[in-house]
Amino acid sequence: MLNELEKVQSEAAVSISQAFTEKELSDTRVRILGKKGSLTQLLKRLGTLPETDRREIGKRANQVKEDLEKKIAVALLQIQERERTEALEREKIDVTLPGRRIPVGNRHPLTQILDEIIDIFSRLGFEVVEGPEVELDYYNFEALNIPKGHPAREMQATFFFSEDVVLRTHTSPVQVRTMEKKRPPVRVICPGAVYRCDSDPTHSPMFHQVEGLLVDKGITFADLKGVLTIFVHQMFGKETRLRFRPSFFPFTEPSAEIDIECFICGGKGCGVCSNTGWLEILGSGMVDPAVYQFVNYNPEEVTGFAFGMGIERIAMLKFGINDIRPFFTNDLRFLKQF
Ligand code: PHE
Repeated sequence: MLNELEKVQSEAAVSISQAFTEKELSDTRVRILGKKGSLTQLLKRLGTLPETDRREIGKRANQVKEDLEKKIAVALLQIQERERTEALEREKIDVTLPGRRIPVGNRHPLTQILDEIIDIFSRLGFEVVEGPEVELDYYNFEALNIPKGHPAREMQATFFFSEDVVLRTHTSPVQVRTMEKKRPPVRVICPGAVYRCDSDPTHSPMFHQVEGLLVDKGITFADLKGVLTIFVHQMFGKETRLRFRPSFFPFTEPSAEIDIECFICGGKGCGVCSNTGWLEILGSGMVDPAVYQFVNYNPEEVTGFAFGMGIERIAMLKFGINDIRPFFTNDLRFLKQF
C-alpha cells in the first residue's frame, strides 16, 4: 500500500506539472482528489488495513494529500501569472509608433477655379444665381436674339429633347431668367454645366461656364473693361497683359472677346497659343437692346454688360493642362496634383 501511495504521488505530481491551463489543472485535480480520484480511491481502502498499518499509512496518506493540494495551489498561481503576462504582451500598445494617416481629399480642380471666380466677383458685389440645365429654346436662343434659322444656332451644336426643349448650350439663358424676375440694378454671376455635341482633346460634350450680367443706369463699355480687367488681374496675376478684341454675339452689341498674353511663350508665339501670342479666355459685350425687349427693360433707361467664360478653359490655362478629359475621368493620380 505504501508503494501504491508513492506511485500515486509521483504520477499526480507529474500531471500537475503538465497542466497548462486552469481547466487542465482542475481536471487533473478531479482525477486525483475527486470522488473517484486516484488518491481518494486509495484512502477508501485504508479502512481495510489492520489497525497498526492504518495509523502509519493514514498519516503518510494525509501528508501526500496535503502535498498534492499545495502543488496544485502553486501550479494555479503559476498558470494565472503566465496567462496574465501573455495577455499583457498580446495587448501591448507601442504609443511611440507613428499614427495611421487618415487620407484627406481635396476640392476638384474645377471647383477650386470656380470658387476663385465666385470669390473675385463677390467682392465686386456680384450675387450668384443658377438656372436649369434642361432649358427652353426660348431662353437658350429666342430671347437672346437668336431666332429660329439664325446661323448662330448652328455654331453651338445643340442637344435637343424636342423642338422647344434643349440642353442649354451656354449659361446666357440665366441672364434672361434673372432679368425676368428682377428689376435693375442687376449684378449677378451664373455658374453651371452646359452641353454641346462636341468631343475632342479640348472639347467635352459637358463643360462649365460662368455667366456675368450687370445692368443699371449709366453703365458703359468702360465699366465692362474695368470689371473684366480687375478679374483678369486677380485671376492670372497683376502683370498679365490683356486685350479686348472686337467680336460678335447676337445678344451683345458691341461685343469683345478678351485675350490674355500667352504665359507659356510670353507673347512670342508657341504651340499653346497657335503662334498668336494670345489666349482667348472669355466673350463679353454690352447687352443688346433687343434682349431688353424680351424682359421689359427700357433700353432708354438702363444699359449693361454681360460676359461668359469656360471654367475648364481657365483651369487648363492656369494649371497648364492641354487636355480637357482628365477633369471628368476622375483618376486620383490626376486629381491629387491640385
Ligand atoms: N454665351 C457666349 C458663349 O457661350 C459667351 C458670352 C456670354 C458672350 C455673355 C457675350 C456675353 O460663347
